[in-house]
Amino acid sequence: MLSRRRFVAMSTAALVAAPGILRAQSKWRAQPFSLGVASGDPSPDGFVIWTRIAPQPLEPHGGMPMTVVPVAWEVATDEAFRSVVAQGSAVARPELAHSIHVEVAGLKPDRPYFYRFEVGGERSGLGRACTFPLATATPASLRLGVAGCQDYQGGYFTAFRHLAAEDLAFVFHYGDYIYEYGPDSPTVRAHVGDVLMSLDDYRRRYAQYKSDADLQRAHAAHAFFMTLDDHEVRNNWAGDFEDEDKAPPEVFRLHRQAAFQAWYEHMPVRRAQFPVGSAIQLYRGARFGNLARLDFLDTRQFRTNQPCDDGYKIACAAVRSPRAHIVSAEEEAWLTRNLQRRAARWNVVAQQVMMMALDWRERPDAAPAKTLNLDSWAGYEVQRQRLLARMGGLDDVIVLTGDEHRNYAGLLHDRERPVAVEFVGTSISSDGDGDDMPSTGPALLAANPQLKLVNNQRGYLTCDVTPDEWRTNYMVLDRVSSPGGTLSKRATFAVERGRPDLRLA
Ligand SMILES: [Fe+2]
Repeated sequence: MLSRRRFVAMSTAALVAAPGILRAQSKWRAQPFSLGVASGDPSPDGFVIWTRIAPQPLEPHGGMPMTVVPVAWEVATDEAFRSVVAQGSAVARPELAHSIHVEVAGLKPDRPYFYRFEVGGERSGLGRACTFPLATATPASLRLGVAGCQDYQGGYFTAFRHLAAEDLAFVFHYGDYIYEYGPDSPTVRAHVGDVLMSLDDYRRRYAQYKSDADLQRAHAAHAFFMTLDDHEVRNNWAGDFEDEDKAPPEVFRLHRQAAFQAWYEHMPVRRAQFPVGSAIQLYRGARFGNLARLDFLDTRQFRTNQPCDDGYKIACAAVRSPRAHIVSAEEEAWLTRNLQRRAARWNVVAQQVMMMALDWRERPDAAPAKTLNLDSWAGYEVQRQRLLARMGGLDDVIVLTGDEHRNYAGLLHDRERPVAVEFVGTSISSDGDGDDMPSTGPALLAANPQLKLVNNQRGYLTCDVTPDEWRTNYMVLDRVSSPGGTLSKRATFAVERGRPDLRLA
């Protein structure tokens, strides 16, 4: 660790000296940008840029002294930074693990920019992010990525290496960025530390994950819209409840507060997502010209506890309770308003858990009768039905989902009428190599006519959107248990706007 005095002297020099001199003056014993750079929440005039100063990422406080550190940043229109269009200095604070979140504004719409940071004579790697088109623009096309569920112990992040090389406007991340478990054995690669409980525990887990070079490549290449699901906090948590240790609500709120703080510290999100006590504002929206309205949901923080004691089970009466909800009344009203405004050609509901109420009776742990995943929307049937009814007749709704660690594609119905299409992305690494068709796949397809694809390989989705057609590409890897997996396109499904139906393209 650097001594405090030497560090302060050096960082002050970094802000006034020319870059050429800085490099020679660097006193860092280890790379301060060991966790890479990231950008997020793009708008027509800017985006957030993020980094964290952590020369020893797995050490307490990332190996940093307990002092504030100035970090210089700049944004340019070219990779060589000949044309710098925004720059400034931000303060990395020890209270926030020396993370930096700069909301860059005043940029021009619908074009790529490059950004980088500098601290104490060391320069970060280069990041790239695209601004959104103006809300009044009429873009001819949009290409986006969908990814999440990245259990470090499940496999290598090869999918992120490939995602980095895709030409995308942005990536939607559906959560499970970290997993809270202690080390498994044997695993492809093991977690450092035990099950996560404290702020320091969560910080170290994010540091371990974000040390991955493939993950850093993906963040450096694209702006992300980050959400979270259960494993950023605790398996299948729901509002004030968690089932793993059955912590009392007031205790779990403290646990959640630590998890939310660490999430904020490590994510390229705006100040609006700064946690307040044990709460965080996660649901939010964006407009990609008149082509796509994007609504990013929070399906964890406000939900009532899973009915019937959770799991894959035959529905008990609580599934149909009018008091059960997976999003809050405010969030539901906000989403409904946005959907029915029809401000763009496509309404995109980007969220976490499956909205189709599939019959899972063929699962080995399920009952021999209609079985629901009670942690998904299917456990909250009254709200699910109300939302689907409101989608009826819009004929422009696409639901993007994660959580399942499988690729699925299917139709959402309001009673007998198809009202939307749901694309469920697999995992980056969670559940390991997998196979094309799981043993229960044919029975699942037979029991659920609304389901058109089952695949159990790791990977991500890309979506090609035009005013009249939506295409989702299922990109899969042959393996994640060793580095260098081979990527292929497993399937492409097309949806015609105005007709909620799926066809293989
Ligand atoms: Fe997951």
